[in-house]
Amino acid sequence: MDNTAENPSRTSEKDSLQASRQELELRLNDMLDEMTENENTRFNTVLSRKDSHTEHVEIVMYRHTNGSGRLFGGALLQMIDTVGAICARRHAGAEVTTVAIDNLSFKAPAALNSTILLVAEVEQVGRTSLKVKVTTYVEQLNGRRDEINIAYMTFVAMDRYNHPTPVPRLLELQ
Ligand SMILES: CC(C)(COP(=O)(O)OP(=O)(O)OC[C@H]1O[C@@H](n2cnc3c(N)ncnc32)[C@H](O)[C@@H]1OP(=O)(O)O)[C@@H](O)C(=O)NCCC(=O)NCCS
Repeated sequence: MDNTAENPSRTSEKDSLQASRQELELRLNDMLDEMTENENTRFNTVLSRKDSHTEHVEIVMYRHTNGSGRLFGGALLQMIDTVGAICARRHAGAEVTTVAIDNLSFKAPAALNSTILLVAEVEQVGRTSLKVKVTTYVEQLNGRRDEINIAYMTFVAMDRYNHPTPVPRLLELQ
């Protein structure tokens, strides 16, 4: 009897494992190609600040106030982070995460029932990071806008595997 002959059912199991492995490798290569193509496309795109300009309007409610009945800094920071992230996402065309609050200046308070307006614009971009400026105003009933806060925040664009991914360039001529 030939001891080196393989069991036919083991051979077909091996063949089917080999086929599944080849199929998985092909799919993985397709996914990597698609990711690289998306990254290259994004990195070679140029967008203006207007493309990601983001505004948010809110009335200061009791839930936003501190013990003095004025806008609580932490509540404003949550709004700034949200509006800044939406602006960064719009520019990046990808999910973003906050990595730094570079500067946050409270210039004036806002009273209960005030209308506040937050305006976010991309200030500068790196390879995978974006610096966003968020300016907050109190809007008076006559339409006048008084600046109450300026914040600079850094976001990083993330791919679907939670790794930093390139962002579009920023058009500087504006
Ligand atoms: C975002 C994160 C994945 C980046 O990881 P990392 O190992 O620092 O990645 P890299 O070194 O490749 O840096 C990626 C980019 O982020 C920038 N960056 C990282 N940390 C930074 C910081 N503290 N301030 C400013 N930029 C920063 C780098 O300069 C780089 O920018 P570039 O590509 O434009 O040159 C990681 O820092 C992280 O997960 N942080 C936590 C984010 C988070 O949980 N946020 C929620 C806060 S509540």
